[in-house]
Amino acid sequence: LARGATAPDLAGRHVVVSAGGTREPLDPVRYLGNRSSGKQGYALARAAAARGARVTLVEANTGLPDPAGVDVVHVGTAVQLREAVLKAVADADAVVMAAAVADFRPAVYAPGKIKKKGDDGAPVVELVRNPDILAELSADRALPGQVVVGFAAETDDVLANGREKLARKGCDLLVVNEVGERKTFGSEENEAVVLAADGAETPVPYGPKEALAETVWDLVLPRLRPTD
Ligand code: CTP
Ligand code: CA
Repeated sequence: LARGATAPDLAGRHVVVSAGGTREPLDPVRYLGNRSSGKQGYALARAAAARGARVTLVEANTGLPDPAGVDVVHVGTAVQLREAVLKAVADADAVVMAAAVADFRPAVYAPGKIKKKGDDGAPVVELVRNPDILAELSADRALPGQVVVGFAAETDDVLANGREKLARKGCDLLVVNEVGERKTFGSEENEAVVLAADGAETPVPYGPKEALAETVWDLVLPRLRPTD
């Protein structure tokens, strides 16, 4: 291979990546959101496309331009993201859930702007749980041998929390980030450990999100079902 060229080791594969953070509307002008930039998911999508895969990127609220050679589906909420991902994985070899999915959404959406009433007092917002998309993808694989990858940002006992989450979600790989000052949210760099359901543990040193993306695909590759 020429210098700088990438081996097309994902040629003939379809992979699905979710990226960004969902927004859960309260009323026409307000939402509950999170600080996910979407950069890691975009790096994963670009890397897979460069390695020859057909890529579907399900994007939530990143504001990032569509990467060349990638099919992008734009969504807003967790419920919309679930629908788009479930549709895309029907014929996918692998799915990577890099999106930050809101755990809760407002129980009711106010079709008109919520207004102040009187001089004080404030409304109480009731929340309900959103569906756990990663757990659902893992439990009901659209195809036998489909590889399912999750992400988790953890504090405190990062590895123990990660192992527990991997088991609870039932995915094949879980990329565990330690959340800290310069790490993860909005930054260009990332440091992680990739935990596998088979017990393997792959540390990824602090570096660009592109490097972590390549490592994720390197770990997905040997777990893909054989091509016919
Ligand atoms: N995820 C998902 N659906 C949700 C919540 C999370 O698919 N409703 C996915 C994320 O995309 C990520 C993984 O699950 O790949 C882990 O997300 P995380 O928020 O760390 O997991 P939770 O189960 O929500 O646990 P926690 O209570 O720590 O937030
Ligand atoms: Ca969560």
